[in-house]
Amino acid sequence: MSEVRQILVTSALPYANGSIHLGHMLEYIQTDMWVRFQKLRGNQCIYVCADDAHGSAIMLRAEKEGITPEQLIANVQAEHSADFADFLVDFDNFHSTHSEENRELSELIYGKLRDAGHIATRSVTQYYDPEKGMFLADRFIKGTCPKCAAEDQYGDNCEKCGATYEPTDLKDPRSAISGATPVLRDSKHFFFKLPDFEAMLKEWTRSGTLQDSVANKIAEWLDGGLHEWDISRDAPYFGFEIPDEPGKYFYVWLDAPIGYMASFKNLCSRRPELDFDAFWNKDSSAELYHFIGKDIINFHTLFWPAMLEGAGYRKPTAVNVHGYLTVNGQKMSKSRGTFIKARTYLDHLNPEYLRYYYAAKLGRGVDDLDLNLEDFVQKVNSDLVGKVVNIASRCAGFIHKGNAGVMVADNAAPELTEAFRAAAPSIAEAYESRDFARAMREIMALADRANAWIADKAPWALNKQEGKQAEVQAICATGINLFRQLVIFLKPVLPNLAADAERFLNVEPLRWNDHQTLLSNHQLNAFTPLLTRIEPAKIEAMVEASKEDLAASESTAPAGNGELTKEPLAAEITFDQFAAVDLRIALIEKCEFVEGADKLLRLTLDIGDAKRNVFSGIKSAYPDPSKLEGRLTLYVANLAARKMKFGVSEGMVLAAGPGGEEIYLLSPDSGAKPGQRVK
Ligand code: MSP
Ligand code: ZN
Repeated sequence: MSEVRQILVTSALPYANGSIHLGHMLEYIQTDMWVRFQKLRGNQCIYVCADDAHGSAIMLRAEKEGITPEQLIANVQAEHSADFADFLVDFDNFHSTHSEENRELSELIYGKLRDAGHIATRSVTQYYDPEKGMFLADRFIKGTCPKCAAEDQYGDNCEKCGATYEPTDLKDPRSAISGATPVLRDSKHFFFKLPDFEAMLKEWTRSGTLQDSVANKIAEWLDGGLHEWDISRDAPYFGFEIPDEPGKYFYVWLDAPIGYMASFKNLCSRRPELDFDAFWNKDSSAELYHFIGKDIINFHTLFWPAMLEGAGYRKPTAVNVHGYLTVNGQKMSKSRGTFIKARTYLDHLNPEYLRYYYAAKLGRGVDDLDLNLEDFVQKVNSDLVGKVVNIASRCAGFIHKGNAGVMVADNAAPELTEAFRAAAPSIAEAYESRDFARAMREIMALADRANAWIADKAPWALNKQEGKQAEVQAICATGINLFRQLVIFLKPVLPNLAADAERFLNVEPLRWNDHQTLLSNHQLNAFTPLLTRIEPAKIEAMVEASKEDLAASESTAPAGNGELTKEPLAAEITFDQFAAVDLRIALIEKCEFVEGADKLLRLTLDIGDAKRNVFSGIKSAYPDPSKLEGRLTLYVANLAARKMKFGVSEGMVLAAGPGGEEIYLLSPDSGAKPGQRVK
């Protein structure tokens, strides 16, 4: 066996001024799966993270909430920790950059860089808010675009025309904080002399530390020439004061990556077997990996390795970059309800569904990853419930009923168990190289084979025949052994499912190499369903809940109050947006007045496999509701349910006309069946 590797792993430190959303989770889940894989293999793998607690944004938000920054970051840290724990992201330590360890290390590293001549100072002229008494970062300055004259644009770029410029180019500049007109002011700034490290960076970024596309991107920057990096900010600032420089603070991005070290150092104080220096010394044989999103590449592949080098520490073994999350093919959107917070997801759905879906789609590249909610339901239900769990649920009952829960020793499919064993190195290699999608594909291909084999053997049919009991037991024991192998392979992705399976299998926590052995003459515990199907209604509810913040602004819209209004031609939509509307044939089974409502009718729709309750503002045109009963119409099936004064309306029926008596319920040609989709 190869020797035990020592591996330190980090995810980027989330800002302590906002909630974790499913985009962030892509990173933390990816990292956690990789770490769990390493641990399962028996390596010493340590996973640290922290909240990124400094900067003016955090200072200003605390001020707005009327609390101290310390209180704000403590509140957020509690929230973040709970979100991560509930998504089964198992940090060895989750610390804060606003910590003693980080202050000491930041001062130490800065001191070493300064003493080695890598720090320069010079005066910088910047906008200053005379009312607030602070220098203004670009995003805290607003004004009129110098190019297209659009008003209310930020200090560095125009959202209207896309121009980029200096804040001093803005016309009518204002402080976004106080509204005051900013004035130009000089101040001494500290710079990290990045160009000192150009040769090292050219070498390091090409030495297998980065994905090719990332290395290419960096090469462009390197070829364009490196600039000195401004690492200081003036008071007031929430951060660490620069030693011997009163009123000057480290810029948040200086002490943020040092937070990786600080979190590890804090862990070392609780875990004496860990030696800080053994992981961070220049000649360390430990491996160090940072997982980050594509927006923060320069900080991790230029500034950070240069800081480490300049201060005499080791550099990362690799920086693993991932793309951005989109939902239903688009940027996460609050109005569409696809800006989904971690907590909102957890309120509705099992975290392992998302862990599996991300795994199934995560390759080694930096491409964006789309969470398509329909595909999500389909894939999780078909793979996890339909394939993996299905094997155990098909076999467990026969063993419990026919053999008191004891798995017999016979292996009814030696070639198959051997094929599973033979697949392990390739699956492990996929995990190791972060090609989770390939790992999942290979595991599901094995699950397909197991299911096909069981279907072919049909123990349920054999069980009805005389004298076939031994064969049934052999088939089912084999099925459970195949299931056990799959659980081992999936354990980095599905730790809870694995724990439940271990309980059912009545075994110690499974390790990777356990896939080489089989259970025989082994007592099982009772089988309880390991994972249930995702109900699409849960997805709708989650999306609806994600819109909550907007409910107030939406309530002014005419839709949803059951009344029809005449509207001008709506904005153009794409074909995809149109295709996203799920139109169905519905049979109006019942139609009745709603007490206290003068415009609404309550419709009970038969939509094929289910009934729906819909309120519709069509009473003025249909004074005798019973006339509508038995009629077919069109129904928007995937419209989020809406709570109205009289109850919940689940979707909408389609009608045309200006209102009053002129409302015409749409009908399909005869022959259409309830539930059929309109295409
Ligand atoms: N605080 C910095 C990181 C400092 S690391 C020394 C930061 N924080 S963040 O909260 O904005 O982002 C944390 C991580 O989440 C980053 O790696 C970022 O790329 C990732 N993501 C944030 N939004 C994301 C998506 N929508 N999709 C995928 N990853 C995303 O940056
Ligand atoms: Zn403009």
